[in-house]
Amino acid sequence: MERIDKIISEHTHYTRKEIKRLISQRAVYVNGEEVKKPEAKFDEEDVSVKINGEEIEIKKHIYLLLNKPKGYVSATEDKSQKTVLDLIPKEYKYRNLFPAGRLDKDTTGLMLITDDGEFAHNILSPRKHVQKEYEVTLDIPVTSTMIEEFKNGVNLNDGECKTADLEITGEYTANVTITEGRYHQIKRMFGCFGAKVLELNRIRIGNLYLGEELKPGEIKEATAEELQKIQERD
Ligand code: URA
Repeated sequence: MERIDKIISEHTHYTRKEIKRLISQRAVYVNGEEVKKPEAKFDEEDVSVKINGEEIEIKKHIYLLLNKPKGYVSATEDKSQKTVLDLIPKEYKYRNLFPAGRLDKDTTGLMLITDDGEFAHNILSPRKHVQKEYEVTLDIPVTSTMIEEFKNGVNLNDGECKTADLEITGEYTANVTITEGRYHQIKRMFGCFGAKVLELNRIRIGNLYLGEELKPGEIKEATAEELQKIQERD
């Protein structure tokens, strides 16, 4: 059981002070009955809240899918640069959202933004074997040696990478699938072959593809089915 002013403040933009005022204005209803005091307690999992006649959605966690554009850093705040959180609609701003994993500033593509730490861990931890697939464009042609070496595990200065799948899609382009998320991992993997990554776009996490629906910079709430897919392992 939780105080109603706490429940509402955690799920809306209203502050505790505003909620107190709304209650005194008789504007807050829970489960069809007027709330008289901010201290009144309810079961957070099972409440229907209306403020000024409007239903408030009480969701434990938020899961947003973003097609990250270039130019944004994957952080919750930064002194001088735009962050992916700057792309989030303001109705979600009161939640403690963070990007689940990092894409470099110049990398584009599918990203999950959530306030569910356990869920984020489940898709990020290399032990969970959730695949991340990227479209890559290089400055030199992709070679079959790269395919072999990626499969065997490329040696980076912070240790050997797990096996990665490299599929050639054009002379300079390939799709790479990894299950880790080390700092600049794909750029450093290709760097071992003297190749520079010119474009990097994440198209899949787990079994969830970015698809056509989200244009760069667009965000939407994930459906239950999408959340299921994003956790599926190899
Ligand atoms: N690997 C990289 O080098 N950069 C990314 O943004 C993601 C994977």
